[in-house]
Amino acid sequence: MKKLILAANWKMNKTATDAAAFVSSFEEFAAKSKHTIVICPSFTSIFALVNAKAKNIHVGAQNIFFESKGTYTGEISSSMLADAGVEYVIVGHSERRAMFGDTNEVVAKKLKVAIEGGFKAILCIGETYDEKLNKQTKKVLKTQLESAIKGVSATENLTVAYEPVWAISSGDPTKPKMTPTNDEIAKTHLFIKGILEKYGFNKTKILYGGSANDKNCEEFAKIENVDGFLIGGASLEVEKFASMLKAVEKI
Ligand code: PGA
Repeated sequence: MKKLILAANWKMNKTATDAAAFVSSFEEFAAKSKHTIVICPSFTSIFALVNAKAKNIHVGAQNIFFESKGTYTGEISSSMLADAGVEYVIVGHSERRAMFGDTNEVVAKKLKVAIEGGFKAILCIGETYDEKLNKQTKKVLKTQLESAIKGVSATENLTVAYEPVWAISSGDPTKPKMTPTNDEIAKTHLFIKGILEKYGFNKTKILYGGSANDKNCEEFAKIENVDGFLIGGASLEVEKFASMLKAVEKI
């Protein structure tokens, strides 16, 4: 029996009003699930989710800034997130790496601040379509992972999300969209686990992300070293997210 983490990454979707409405319909499904449900809304919806106090809905942020306070217009600090009641923080999502200057160096700083702030951090790593094509997957994942975890001591508060950019629904519109095979996921998660263990992260859970949905999640969840999912598109509708929960309930 596996206890998975199903983490919703809502990206830039839903107002606070939408978020509150979502939770009031979704909470009965979350409450029944044996798995851990996390929802990462936009910053403006965090209070709506925290104040809903829904059973088994943990609230996460999609980003964090590494400085503690000061002249950083538009940024959100660790203490602000803690005060808002946030429990999880996503760091290094591929959209932030591609569009908002989150280099490996920046991601390492954010991860350190998140872990030191007592959050459960979800560190995203993943290769692009071209990197996969050029057989760079292992090299890219190793660099992304090592550069981030070198700065923190081994902790159970780290979770890694393997998100191949070529499988994410947003991805690169100019490149083909694919879903990895079970074998690809198994091999890659094993590879990631090996690196984590080398640095003493023996209990780190590894999520899969990239077009995970109610059709494929049961198969994927059966794979060794798949400890859950980071879910974009399929987490935006109550019915779809609820049917994912149902699909993995007997795992
Ligand atoms: P997707 O997004 O499930 O819509 O592919 C996953 C993610 O970007 O975290």
